[in-house]
Parts: sequence; C-alpha cells; structure tokens
Amino acid sequence: MEIWRAQVMHTPRDPFAEADALDAFSDGALAFGDGRVAAVGGFDELRRAFPEARVRDERDAVLLPGLVDTHVHFPQLAIMGAMGLGLLDWLERYALPEEARMADPEHARRVAGEFVAGLAANGTTTALVFGSHFPAAQEALFEEAERSGLRIASGLVVSDRNLRPELHVDPDAAYEAGRELAGRWHGRGRLRYAVTPRFSLSCTEGMLEACGALHGEVRALVTSHMNENVDEVEAVRGLFGDFDDYLHTYEHFGLVGESTVLAHNDHPSEAELARLGAARASVAHCPESNAFLGSGLFPMSAHIQHGVRVALGTDVGAGTGLSVLKEALTAYQLQMLRDDAPPIGPAHLLYLSTRAGALALGLDDVGDLSPGRAADFVLLRPPAGSTLEAVLRHSDSPERTLGALFALAREECVAEVRIAGEAV
Ligand code: GUN
Ligand code: ZN
Repeated sequence: MEIWRAQVMHTPRDPFAEADALDAFSDGALAFGDGRVAAVGGFDELRRAFPEARVRDERDAVLLPGLVDTHVHFPQLAIMGAMGLGLLDWLERYALPEEARMADPEHARRVAGEFVAGLAANGTTTALVFGSHFPAAQEALFEEAERSGLRIASGLVVSDRNLRPELHVDPDAAYEAGRELAGRWHGRGRLRYAVTPRFSLSCTEGMLEACGALHGEVRALVTSHMNENVDEVEAVRGLFGDFDDYLHTYEHFGLVGESTVLAHNDHPSEAELARLGAARASVAHCPESNAFLGSGLFPMSAHIQHGVRVALGTDVGAGTGLSVLKEALTAYQLQMLRDDAPPIGPAHLLYLSTRAGALALGLDDVGDLSPGRAADFVLLRPPAGSTLEAVLRHSDSPERTLGALFALAREECVAEVRIAGEAV
C-alpha cells in the first residue's frame, strides 16, 4: 500500500446534474495498492487508516484522476497547426496526404510511438483513438499502446468513397481486416477495438452495413464523426437522400448505442439530440478543432437538456495539442461566447476531462478516485518559477486552484502518470 500526500481533487458526481460535485482535499491523500484506490481523503485520516503504508510527500503538487481523451487521430500527429482551411479542404490538403503516408509501416510505427508518448506526457491515461486506414499501421498503434500501458480503444478506419484511392477499401475487405484486428486486440490487456467508419461522407451504405455487421459480431465500441461542418452536413444530405438526417445514416446500420462515441455534433437537429439521448450514445466535444477549422460553436446546453452524454476530445491534428486540460479550457471559453451557455466552471471541466470520458468509453472502473476504482492518476506540479506556481501560491480555494490548472498547466507540469498504480 502507498499513500501519496498532495492536493487531491476529483468529481465522483456529475456537476451538470448535482451541486457540490467536486471533492477536494487541500492536505489530501490517495491510498492505493494492487492497482486500485483504497481510500481518498485528508492526509491525517488516511495515515491513521493505513499506518503501514509508505508515504510519498507531494504537497507541492495536485493529484487528479488520469485524463481521458475521447477523440484523437494518431496518424495526424505530424500535421498539427496546418492553418487556413475549413474541414473539407483541410482534409484534402493536409490530413489525407499524411494519412496516406501511413501505408509505410516504418513511418506509421514511428508516429504511433510518438503519439502514445505524447498522450502520456500530457497526463492522458485513457483514449479513444481514431486509427489508420492501413491494417499494418493500426497493428503498430496497438503494439505501441500495449507497450505504453495506456488504456486505448482504437480501430481500423474504413472508407470507400470521396477520400483518395489509396484510402479506399471495399466493404468485404474492410470487414475482414477489422475482424482480424479485433480478434487479436479487443479485450487484450487494456486495449479494446472500435469500429470506425471515417464519416458517412466517405462511406457507402454497403460500408456502413459492413461496419454494423462487424459491431454486431465484436460488440466493441463504435466511433465516427457527425454534424461537424455545415458543408459536410449538406454533402451527407445529398448522398443519403432517403435518410432523415446525419444520425440516421449511422442508426440505420446499428451503429448508435451506448458504446458509440460521435465526434463534434456542432450542428445537430432537435430530433438528433433526442435520439442520441435516448440511445445513451456519447458525443466527443472537440472545441479546439471546432475553433481551428471554424466548424461551429458546440451547443452544449442543448446536449445536456436532451440527456446526451458529452466528453472531450482533442481531435489532433485539427486540434492543436494533446492536452485535455487545454481542451477543457477552450470548451469553457467557447461556451462563454454563447447566449445559452450552461453553468460551467472548474468542477465541470474536471468532470468532462475525466469521469465523463471514462463513462463515454464504458469504463466505470476509471475517471475518479473513489475507493475500488483503478488507480489511474496524474500528478501536476508547477515548474519552479513558473506563472502557474505564482498563481497557485495565491489561490484561496480548490476551485481557484483547479481553474488555474486548466488555464496554465500543460505538458511541463505533468510530473507523474500512473495507470492501475503503475508508472507510465
Ligand atoms: N471528418 C472526417 N475525417 C475527419 C478528420 O480527420 N478530422 C476531423 N476534424 N473531421 C473529420
Ligand atoms: Zn476527428
């Protein structure tokens, strides 16, 4: 058993549903052993409860649950920051050429290694990763993910129209390749498979049907994009004239349920929100990407009112970094620009960054520090002499400390990352 003494904060309850959802302990501690949380609370109390435990003094740091990124593209690591275009032109000019380079397994392996290292460096312990169109590249991602110890769900990205020929595959081949990868990786250690049609704009009905069949067989996660950009929504409407709306193109093939995570949804209809809520599907909100590509201002209040589960995704490479903390800050700022902003503050951001993501990915075991959960956590320590260090010295409440972390804590503050108690 170990006790880590630090400022400890987590959100075991949903702040969008309940007041006082933030549990914070300024002279706090986390006790854990055998990979699980034994207790969380004040240091003195935990010290008395576990007198034999080894104590680590981290009083100058803040301990939070491991961060959860519910939407991030591993093959796009190298193209972050490519400015000047909206979604469809950005895909054609920047994203898809780089994704085509993943045909080279050596390049794919290097990027996969850099990518999982980048997640951990940013305090992310769990992620739903949009994969590659190439099976060998996807294999490399799973291998690097396994080596890292991170909790990763991912899958082969499939498409059969409107991208570029190298990225197209016919539905039968997509099904077979997905089945093979899922057979090898789904449920192996901390890894799971995610059935991943890129988006309806790049899939025929035959491809979506193949994805539905694979999901029916593997019972894995499902992820894709939806309602990101008005030109994209219009193009999907043109391709799927017999369907009610964008969501229906996924629903019709059995792809929308509680293990589904759809990225963006900046431009949903009321009917789509109602059906997403009823299906208990989740939306990966990606505010950095939405701002970067000029896609739209996410209607968070409408999602919450319809009971749609929302978590955060960095959406690298349209997103501007692998920091879930930065993503949460941008979510806050963009909601503040809306007339219908939900009540939102540091506790909401922590919940969106941790427990909401865990639940979206079906992982009840992680996302907060309640006793019995897996001991997944991140220790944030402001570098000596940094602005953050000064701001924290003046903080007079846990909320102010947490707000300062979202504003200022980035990679250089991530002092340690543990998954099931093990160092990453
Ligand atoms: N829609 C389909 N593919 C992509 C992608 O790679 N990035 C984003 N932001 N949206 C997409
Ligand atoms: Zn994306």
